[in-house]
Amino acid sequence: MMAVGDFTGAGKILLAPLAGVSDSPFRRMCRDFGADAVYTEMVSSEGLTRRNVGSVELTRFDERERPIGIQVFGKRPARMAEAAGILEALEPDILDINACCPARRVVSKGGGAALLKTPDLLREIITEVVRATGLPVSVKIRIGWDEDSINAVDVARMAEDSGAVAVTVHGRTAKQGFRGRSDWSLVAEVKRAVGIPVILTGDVMRPEDVKRGIDATGCDAVMIARGSFGRPWIFEQAREYIERGTYAEFPPEKWVGVALRHLDLMIETFGERMGVLRFRKHLLWYTKGLYRVVALRWHMARLHTRAEVAALLERAVSENADRRRNRGEKGA
Ligand SMILES: Cc1cc2nc3c(=O)[nH]c(=O)nc-3n(C[C@H](O)[C@H](O)[C@H](O)COP(=O)(O)O)c2cc1C
Repeated sequence: MMAVGDFTGAGKILLAPLAGVSDSPFRRMCRDFGADAVYTEMVSSEGLTRRNVGSVELTRFDERERPIGIQVFGKRPARMAEAAGILEALEPDILDINACCPARRVVSKGGGAALLKTPDLLREIITEVVRATGLPVSVKIRIGWDEDSINAVDVARMAEDSGAVAVTVHGRTAKQGFRGRSDWSLVAEVKRAVGIPVILTGDVMRPEDVKRGIDATGCDAVMIARGSFGRPWIFEQAREYIERGTYAEFPPEKWVGVALRHLDLMIETFGERMGVLRFRKHLLWYTKGLYRVVALRWHMARLHTRAEVAALLERAVSENADRRRNRGEKGA
């Protein structure tokens, strides 16, 4: 088994847990482009302990994705511990507890970011999960429930005392959702307050943000979330920026190949029908900013086969190149 340091070592760049996005194919894409480690989408402890097919499916991974963390959410300590026991058999490299998700379906049941309002319950969950498994256990939090109850420093200290090996902090409150800015200065405060490694998340959108984030917070590692959508190569660029202070743009002639490889992994994993269906949103992200992309979207919503996706991509890129050539732009 790998070491926790694969997630928390100095300057590690991680793919964030992303419901609906960080599935096995996307995790493999990001690892291929140099993500140091990846996380699954969040998995419900209630679903998992009832052997719900959808929940179990979310925990599947390929050995090539390692180092991998599985993230679990829920609010009942006994269920969370039972889920940890089930997950231990899969031998992920780390087990992450979700105390950060603000989605109504999660917080209305007391899980995710709602746990920030009940730190004693969160303490019990971490303690029980740590007791139930030999896996390293980490916790992912937001800075607080709302601006009147910012408690990341206290919660992180409590997590450390309860046996967590690392804490990830998103510099927004749950109430904020994705509005406003991620407050990196508060994440820096957490870093100064605890002895365990701290992972930064929130507004790491461009390759240079990884270095900026580490410099600004002193964090051990950084997660990339929305910044990876439609550009899994951001991991490679972020590494290049750290090493050389600059990075190369990803060439337009290469990204169609990347998108098609991603699609092929989706098809391999989910079959052609589901694979193409699930790939549609990635296609929107890959083609963002292309010429006439709004017109293309209508077609994207109607794609069913690999051949149709490939044809649309070819067309989008050649139209874009024509356009650039006409304007005398580079990259045509
Ligand atoms: C579509 C989407 C799904 C997400 N799913 C999860 C999740 O399952 N578990 C989790 O801890 N965070 C989840 N997050 C939060 C991200 O992991 C990350 O912390 C957050 O997006 C802030 O980073 P960013 O500003 O760089 O995107 C999700 C975010 C997005 C946009």
